[in-house]
Amino acid sequence: MHTIVLDSETDFDGWRAAARTLAQNGVPPQDIVWTVAGRAPELFAPTELPSCENAPAFTVQAAFIEIARMAILHRDPERFALLYRLLWRLRADPVIMNNPVDADVIRARTLAREVRRDEHKMHAFVRFREFGSGDATRFVAWFEPTHHIVELATPFFARRFASMAWSILTPERCAHWDGHALTFTAGATRADAPSDDPLEETWRTYYASIFNPARLKVKAMRTEMPKKYWRNLPEASMIDPLIAAAARTTQVMIAREAPAPRLARQRKDAPMTAPALHKPDSLAALRAEAAHCRACPLWKDATQTVFGEGPEHASLMLVGEQPGDKEDLAGKPFVGPAGMMLDRALVDAGIERNKVYVTNAVKHFKFVPRGKIRLHQKPSTPEIRACRPWYERELALIQPALVMAMGATAAQSVLGKITPIGKNRGRVIDLDDATKALVTVHPSYLLRLPDEDARAREYAAFVKDLQLAASVLRKLKAA
Ligand code: URA
Repeated sequence: MHTIVLDSETDFDGWRAAARTLAQNGVPPQDIVWTVAGRAPELFAPTELPSCENAPAFTVQAAFIEIARMAILHRDPERFALLYRLLWRLRADPVIMNNPVDADVIRARTLAREVRRDEHKMHAFVRFREFGSGDATRFVAWFEPTHHIVELATPFFARRFASMAWSILTPERCAHWDGHALTFTAGATRADAPSDDPLEETWRTYYASIFNPARLKVKAMRTEMPKKYWRNLPEASMIDPLIAAAARTTQVMIAREAPAPRLARQRKDAPMTAPALHKPDSLAALRAEAAHCRACPLWKDATQTVFGEGPEHASLMLVGEQPGDKEDLAGKPFVGPAGMMLDRALVDAGIERNKVYVTNAVKHFKFVPRGKIRLHQKPSTPEIRACRPWYERELALIQPALVMAMGATAAQSVLGKITPIGKNRGRVIDLDDATKALVTVHPSYLLRLPDEDARAREYAAFVKDLQLAASVLRKLKAA
């Protein structure tokens, strides 16, 4: 019997080195006990691994390595043995990972999927509380992941909150960002994290303001935001009262006539002017110019122009419809619920958001007020046309190799005509000699799907479209 002691629960490199040596020396799965340093001591002393110098080398399917890397982060204590069994069997059947009915393959894929899901939940449900003041300000969050995902999930926060000092405390491992480097320390307790701060009220207000009772799907909402996460979410205290009030509120909303837009009455009407067509020499200049856009009436009710964001010479440009409520307040595109969905899909497609230029076809939020809620409205063709010069000028400055239009409004602006998404997705379209385009659905479409199967299917199709974008870019670069 061989006892292999890995350095930690996430020691993929240790597992991989040991597994390779054991397999090359012909040690069958049933002769190995896998454990982790610090767990209850095993009956047998740790094995000194045999040398494999003269053993025949073998390679394994890339799909196996990809799945093993994720699955090893699962909490299932059997995962090391399962993955070794698969590795062992891969030598006789090199494409075993393609077998959709093999029990070991199914289990490994399930573990990998559950780890990914846990990672996404962490991205969505970490809530920072402000701690300290002045230069010593740090944002601290408490989170309890299901699996061993702290090192996997936290680089996302380093990219997203690059300029903040933050810590994410978990029972097993803590991650810290100081603006330059991500470091990890041992686990903490909930008492180590601050429990309340002024941001809590902001979260609650925000949640109440984006909560649309007419679109409430309690089951879907509970699946996306399982109760286990509620106790760390300031907005969770709002969920039950908002659900309880939803039916009544919907009736009132339907019965009530839309009031005249609030700000329209307060602001002075300004003449509508089309944006100037000279070419600015930088995105910053273009953004500053767009801040005063009066090309259509949408500016009157919106908080601000939400201009595109991303590197000045990005090879990929993503175009959405228009800013939503959260984007209107923040002045940045795709930072609300649709943005979270987009972030998650980009991660799954292997695309780094900070390398992409993200913008919208229409740069002011169009909505109708319903009490405290601002209900999103689709922009009209004149509004899309009025805003198009901004997109054209962003395009001229950035000169991306590929533009991806997300949703019908974006497709209409990018392609200059109404373009059905279903019929055109997956097709590479020439915009001009140097620029290609693809169309796909809008991420908020995925948020609105009523049942889980449809959501999973459509999400996978969306990720596939993004992967196609990445592959088109690779080909264009290589050409
Ligand atoms: N929807 C969009 O189309 N754009 C955003 O920025 C946010 C939501």
